[in-house]
Amino acid sequence: MAADGDLPTYQDVEYASTVLHGVAHHTRIETSNTLDTELGVKVFVKCENMQRMGAFKFRGAYNSINHYNSGGKKLRHVLTYSSGNHAQAIALASTLHGVKSTIIMPKDAPPLKLKATQSYGGDIVYYDRYKEKRDEVAERVAKTLPTEGMIFIPPYDHKYVIAGQGTVGKEMIEDLQSKDITLDYLFVCVGGGGLISGICLAANALSPKTKVIGVEPEAGNDAQQSLQQGRIITIETPHTIADGAQTPHLGELTFAIMKRHVSQIITVTDEDLVRDMKFFGERMKMVVEPTGCLGLAGLRKMVQNGEIPKQSNCGVVISGGNVDMMRYYPDLNACRYLCSIQCGDTNLGEFSVRLQEPSLWPPDPQLYPRAGPAGFVGGLTLPGACHVLFPMPPILPPAFTAGVGATYAPTPNLSIRN
Ligand SMILES: Cc1ncc(COP(=O)(O)O)c(C=O)c1O
Repeated sequence: MAADGDLPTYQDVEYASTVLHGVAHHTRIETSNTLDTELGVKVFVKCENMQRMGAFKFRGAYNSINHYNSGGKKLRHVLTYSSGNHAQAIALASTLHGVKSTIIMPKDAPPLKLKATQSYGGDIVYYDRYKEKRDEVAERVAKTLPTEGMIFIPPYDHKYVIAGQGTVGKEMIEDLQSKDITLDYLFVCVGGGGLISGICLAANALSPKTKVIGVEPEAGNDAQQSLQQGRIITIETPHTIADGAQTPHLGELTFAIMKRHVSQIITVTDEDLVRDMKFFGERMKMVVEPTGCLGLAGLRKMVQNGEIPKQSNCGVVISGGNVDMMRYYPDLNACRYLCSIQCGDTNLGEFSVRLQEPSLWPPDPQLYPRAGPAGFVGGLTLPGACHVLFPMPPILPPAFTAGVGATYAPTPNLSIRN
């Protein structure tokens, strides 16, 4: 349980904004008539995909490193773990401070994020996120580094990280208030909760009537469960294209702030994220990574459910834009087949699905964990219908094969939902 004394306050957010002034970009707020007309509300989009290193994470990383490397303190080495954007942020912010950085990253992190982390000057140590606990890996690595002037800066559960991320909310609310606009709702993605808790501090101080809504992937709704149950719930690392939100649990600090200030957490599907990656690309001319689409997808869902009054002022934070172009295209074109299999005299057995044409793109093992090099998806256990996600829309329909010993004849009924 986090003691109140450890929690960042709005004063910490204000201080962070002086630290970041002239270092981080003051990102712009975009609007879209198409979106407003479609949703019947006024949408304001804060573009942190245009932030240095491509995500809001730069704010928290720079603010934290500055804290340990100022006022007579001299930092030599920063250690952290991250699935991508915090890694790049720590690598860049460390280099800007003349400090070394070591970053523990999942070996299946998007290649773009691995490459960028190295190019900003970070040393990477790889781990298997589905088999190893990253805290344990961090402890092991920490023992190999000199202790003098070394600090561990976690991705979200940290006073100065949260305060830095809070400057996103401060800037957004102040920019809109200078035009006499008050947000009724603010939709923010949730991984470990660093961004949303920082934003909550700003919203609570500057615009207390604004409802801050958290959005997370349906595959990993630990934050929603945690707020509902009043304790931090830990889940298995979720399989979702929102790689920035694959966190198994909230932090103690972030949970303490969120339970006070977050109005509600909602979930969206990977298909919702793909739809909004397309929307941002086609209509607003912006490359947004899947996690960065959570906010807009959440707003759409609540509008569709009739939960947002017409003409409300709705803020949406795009948290980042770091997506491999090799992955952007297949993600946008991924299609999901609904396969209903009719069984013979038993409901148990296995079947496999194979693309009849060679896939142009090697499937991403994180997204298609059962996929082999030619798009083979196998070993799904019946009964019932199941979804099979292919990286590309196949021209020929997939071939279905009964598994060894299975007594049923699968009759696929395919529908493409793109
Ligand atoms: C683009 C992007 N959005 C959102 C998040 C989630 O942020 P937080 O862990 O602060 O909730 C991350 C985390 O890595 C991210 O990279």
